[in-house]
Amino acid sequence: MRPDFIHEFVAGKSGRTLLLLHGTGGNERDLIPLGHDLDPDASLLSPRGKVLERGMPRFFRRLAEGVFDLEDLRQRTHELAHFVIAATERYKIDHRQIVAVGYSNGANIAASMLLLRPEILSSAILFRAMVPLVPETKPDLRSKRVLIGAGAHDTIISPSNTKELVDLLRNAGADVTIRFFQSGHELTSDDVDLAREWLTK
Ligand code: MLT
Repeated sequence: MRPDFIHEFVAGKSGRTLLLLHGTGGNERDLIPLGHDLDPDASLLSPRGKVLERGMPRFFRRLAEGVFDLEDLRQRTHELAHFVIAATERYKIDHRQIVAVGYSNGANIAASMLLLRPEILSSAILFRAMVPLVPETKPDLRSKRVLIGAGAHDTIISPSNTKELVDLLRNAGADVTIRFFQSGHELTSDDVDLAREWLTK
């Protein structure tokens, strides 16, 4: 696997970098406006997922909706971690202040990164995430903050799956805030407002 990704980088004024991870069918430009909205001072690093599903970019392969190719997910998680490390050198990013902001498929690989490569992220905002995998060894997430925005009427992710993800992260020591919105799988302005406020804490 090659650690290079098509990506956008926007230099910010603060030491924080938001790692923006789009949903299925998205690209590296999709979440740039969201990143600016969440934190106008942060740098933005936004890769495009390299897996194509009927022409739609994703961050890892799936066998069916919600059924993941776990071997591919593991490899792609390490590949993305490698890309982030290389980007910290290339763009002079503070590696201690990288916050993942993922939506749907992007939230799932962000959750996978927390579980397999926790050293990469200081915290994570996961919009419409599910359990990506259960790691063989429990990561130490005691210093990590995680915000999960879920849709109470999401037809792709059941509330019980979201709760399993919360338990998995909390059992590893993460400080998890979970909020269910009266929405489906789509991102809402309530999600964005909550995330913006959460980032200021
Ligand atoms: C996934 O494949 O990561 C999830 O089903 C979310 C999606 O991309 O639809």
